[in-house]
Amino acid sequence: MRRLITMVAAVVAIALFSPVAAQAQQAYTINHGPYLQGLTYDGVIVSFTTSERGFSKVEVREKGSDEVREFRTSKHGLFEANNTHNVIEVKNLKPATDYEYRVVSKKLTRFEPYHVRFGEEVASEWYSFRTFDPAAKSVSFVVANDIHDKADLCAKMLDVQPLDEIEMVFYNGDIMSYYNREGQPFTSFIDVSVEKFAKNKPFAVVRGNHETRGQFARIYDEYIHNTPEGMFYGVFYFGDTAVVMLDGGEDKDDQHPVYGGLVDFDNYRREEAEWLKGVVRSPEFLAAKNRIVIMHVPPIVERMAEIEENKKEIMRQIAWRGASHLGELIIPILNEADIDVMLCGHIHRQLIYPEQPGVLEFPIVVNDNVSSLYVRSDEAGVYVKAVHIDGHTSFEKTY
Ligand SMILES: [Fe+2]
Repeated sequence: MRRLITMVAAVVAIALFSPVAAQAQQAYTINHGPYLQGLTYDGVIVSFTTSERGFSKVEVREKGSDEVREFRTSKHGLFEANNTHNVIEVKNLKPATDYEYRVVSKKLTRFEPYHVRFGEEVASEWYSFRTFDPAAKSVSFVVANDIHDKADLCAKMLDVQPLDEIEMVFYNGDIMSYYNREGQPFTSFIDVSVEKFAKNKPFAVVRGNHETRGQFARIYDEYIHNTPEGMFYGVFYFGDTAVVMLDGGEDKDDQHPVYGGLVDFDNYRREEAEWLKGVVRSPEFLAAKNRIVIMHVPPIVERMAEIEENKKEIMRQIAWRGASHLGELIIPILNEADIDVMLCGHIHRQLIYPEQPGVLEFPIVVNDNVSSLYVRSDEAGVYVKAVHIDGHTSFEKTY
């Protein structure tokens, strides 16, 4: 009898503590997100991950309606499946309309050529979002930069802003110091964004010179979907307001030994400048009443040193290839484009480069690394307020 009890106990112990049992006990979950990006007048991009490989979709309904539409990613006749990282584009929505969505995923337990079997299904709660309004007379958003992997700093920069009131958040570069850990975008800023706002309102990421570094920098675009085109530069329209987002690339020469010959930013900035020429001539951009540019590295031209109070900083910055190449390429295009204000970061202190006729035809507000910017664009102009993480306003002006 004692022998039987010992055998039964051993079997139970094996069942409970074997790796198979441990895996079976782990529930299938949505473990990051969902988060919204690429919101427009008629669509949005929903991203999330699951704890194991599965088959996922987004369900969308107009607020107050029972009619649910399903969206999946389909490529070459195949639905995206057997994956954990989901990026699903929701299309053909109505402008200025409230929607609700949830993400749903089935675990794939068997995936053979002629035999597919599913396990548990999980669904998120229903979350809401609103498509942008082509007739909007105003828009407000938050800009945060130079967070350098500090999720707690990111939370503080968000907490001092009226997240209920704004339309979206722009992360203006160097949110990570370099990308060299698996899942780093989640722990550095995406998870905290999901907690604070990103289930309901989108964020866009303006890449800084730091996010181009590290062994995973080349897969950063798996996490960031600013627009359906999947670029790190782009233009957003909010009715009367156009916001151009530019990627400044690296700060040093492409040939600098630290890059080991692996970067191509001179060509990238030239391609971006050609794209920008098209944007500033486009009917949508010309129809906008207010025009804002967001870029991490402030562009510099030598004549900006003619303003005595900025002389020292300009002479320091002009030596950096990124800043001076952007000055050479981007400033002449924007000088012709009736820009209200450009918002930058990068130098970790607050600085204003004022309008300088014939040199810089728009002001540049450089935000520090302990404040976030609240921006409101309306008939009065573009109001920019820098709010320190302790809550005090360190700068405000309407352009
Ligand atoms: Fe930077």
